[in-house]
Amino acid sequence: MENNKLALLGGHKAVTEDFPIYNAMGEEEVEAVAAVIRSGELSGFLAGWGDKFEGGKNVKLFEEEWANYFGVKHAITVNSWTSGLVAMVGAIGIGPGDEVIVPPWTMCATATAVLMWGGIPVFADIEPDLFCIDPQSVRKNITSKTKAILAVDIFGQSSDINELRKIANAHGLFLLSDTAQAPGAKIQGELTGTLSDIGGFSLNYHKHIHTGEGGVLVTNDDTLALKLKLIRNHGEASVASSGLEDITNIVGGNYRLGEMEAAIGRIQLKKLQSELQLRENIVDILFDGLSSLPGFICRRYVTIARTCFIRSLFYWISKSLVLIDKKSSMHL
Ligand SMILES: Cc1ncc(COP(=O)(O)O)c(C=O)c1O
Repeated sequence: MENNKLALLGGHKAVTEDFPIYNAMGEEEVEAVAAVIRSGELSGFLAGWGDKFEGGKNVKLFEEEWANYFGVKHAITVNSWTSGLVAMVGAIGIGPGDEVIVPPWTMCATATAVLMWGGIPVFADIEPDLFCIDPQSVRKNITSKTKAILAVDIFGQSSDINELRKIANAHGLFLLSDTAQAPGAKIQGELTGTLSDIGGFSLNYHKHIHTGEGGVLVTNDDTLALKLKLIRNHGEASVASSGLEDITNIVGGNYRLGEMEAAIGRIQLKKLQSELQLRENIVDILFDGLSSLPGFICRRYVTIARTCFIRSLFYWISKSLVLIDKKSSMHL
C-alpha cells in the first residue's frame, strides 16, 4: 500500500539522489582565468581620472562585446548587479524623499538600492500573466515626489516596457530596468533591458550566464554612462581632476569588476544564445508533459517576451510557470 502513495505523503521516493549541479564552465573559461593570473594583473582599475579609471583589458573588451551584442552605446560592468542597481539609482540623482516605483515581486536589491540614496521605494502591483509591474498600478502610484519607474523583467519575461515608457514620458520620469533574470528576452523584437534610460543584468552564479558574481549596466545616454562610471569607481576622487564642470556631488564606491570575472564573462556571453535555447527546449518538454494533467495551468505566455529561465530551472518553473489550478485539483 505504501508504494501507491506519493513520496510527499510518505510513499517511497522515486528519485533518491539530488540532481547533479549544472556546470556551465568549460576549459575555455579555465584558460581565460589562467591567462589573467599569469599576467599578474587581476584588476586594471585605479581610483582617479586617467588611463586606469575605466578598468583593465578584459573589462574593456567585455564591455565592448556586451554593448555590441545588446546593441547599446554603453555597457558598464560592475562587481554585482546589486552594485549596478545602486549605481543606476544614484546616476539619475535620486535623493532623500524622492520616490521610485518598483514591483514588490522581485529580489530585495531592486527596492533597497533606492533606500541606499535616501529614496523611497513605492510598490506598484504586478499583473497576473507576466508577474511584471502593472502599468495601471504604476499610474495610480505616481505622486509629485515620483522621479522614476524601476521595472523588473522577472523569470525571463519582459515588462510591458512600451506602456511604461509612455507613462514615464507623460510624467517626466526616468525609466529603469532590472533585467537580472532575463538576458536575451525580447519584447517586440527588441532585447529587454535596452529600452530604458538605464538597464542591466546580473552575472551571479544562478543566472543564465555567470561570472560567479558580477553585473552589467546598459545605457544609450552619454551623461548617464559617465555618472555610472564615476559611481563605480570612487567618483568623488575623480571629478575634480577630470575637468568635468557639469558633474558635481558624485559619491561613488568600489563597484569594479575584476579581470578574471571579465575574462570569464567574455566567454560566457558567447554561450548566452545556446544557454537560452537549452532552457527553452527543457521548458517545451515539461509543458508538453504537464499541460494535459488536471490541476496544472502551464503559463505559456511568450507573446510579448521570449521565455528564458535561470539555472535553478525546477525552482523557477514551480514558482512561475506552473500554477496549481485549485478548482480542478480538487478532483485529483
Ligand atoms: C531581479 C533581481 N534583481 C537584483 C538581483 C541582484 O543581483 P546580484 O545577485 O548580482 O547582486 C537579483 C539576483 O538574484 C535579481 O534576481
